Amino acid sequence: NKIIGILTGDGDCPGINAVIRAVVRKSLNLGNEVIGFRKSWKGILEKDIYPLDINSVSDIIGKGGTILGSSRTNPFKYEDGPEKVVRHLRDLNVNVLVAVGSIDTLMVAEKLYERGCPVIGIPKTIDNDLPLTDRTFGFDTAISTVTEAIDRVHSTAESHDRVIIMEVMGRYTGWIATYAGIAGGADCILVPEKPFSIEDVCALIRRRHQRGKDFSIIVVAEGARPKEIDHFVVKTNRVDEFGHKQLGGIGSYIAEEIERLTGFETRVTILGPVQRGGAPTAYDRTLATLFGVKAAEMADAGEFGKMVSLKGNHLVTVKLSELIDKVKPVDADLYDIAEVFFG
Ligand code: F6P
Repeated sequence: NKIIGILTGDGDCPGINAVIRAVVRKSLNLGNEVIGFRKSWKGILEKDIYPLDINSVSDIIGKGGTILGSSRTNPFKYEDGPEKVVRHLRDLNVNVLVAVGSIDTLMVAEKLYERGCPVIGIPKTIDNDLPLTDRTFGFDTAISTVTEAIDRVHSTAESHDRVIIMEVMGRYTGWIATYAGIAGGADCILVPEKPFSIEDVCALIRRRHQRGKDFSIIVVAEGARPKEIDHFVVKTNRVDEFGHKQLGGIGSYIAEEIERLTGFETRVTILGPVQRGGAPTAYDRTLATLFGVKAAEMADAGEFGKMVSLKGNHLVTVKLSELIDKVKPVDADLYDIAEVFFG
């Protein structure tokens, strides 16, 4: 009989509640107990516990967000933070900690594992940018939301002969932009993996006009950068607790430039947090459930220092130590396919 702790860190995403439910249900089946920590690592540092039983996870599979709450708290940024985490887990008789998170939370989990803390990781993010797994849950819901948004701006762009620039999330990768751009029939997709030239984008829009298409939809990932300038100055200086600069603002920059260079009327839509919310799709609920059940089995078997991952159609486990603070770029082949439909 083990006590399993669970926390959810970094940006929330659709499917986290499904994963919490799966960890709890499978652990109970195996004769183990689960306790939640509120607001990620903060919950361990402050011993802020969320009791979890079969009833507390009932009717949450289809709900967005996380019942445990999230934060970007990093114990390594606090004096004695890591020692406190280890000590508090021991005080609470927690035998194993399941950390559900993106790269930042998983890197913290790995560093704690190196200090003897029994941890298991579950990857999640709408960005799908985590190395060592082909998919993260949250991504499918996010691309469905963005696709619907592209569909919606299509008719108004056409009615008013406008160029609509839609800025989407994805941090330093273009997964969301590429998938949703393909599904929404975007006329051009701009991603961080491929620096672009504003002049080329303008030429593409002009060519569309020549063939009678007086409107265009451009999907741009928040991390995309134009070739013309060495570095794009983001409009905000906000930095999160992990020291990452918050992205955004590229959509407005492109809209202004296209209008200046072509004279065509532009509008910008920054989707922002809407991409992180809402009910998870069936795919995300299922993937989150598979990840949660697997993690509960690993917790029971004492397989620590590892993360659950999807490789092709198979659930596998990978060592957290193989995670590097790097992103998984969007497949070049996929982007080439998207380009077939540009213009
Ligand atoms: O990693 C998920 C994500 O939504 C990114 O796409 C985005 O850059 C970032 O988090 C925004 O974080 P927040 O709004 O929570 O500061």
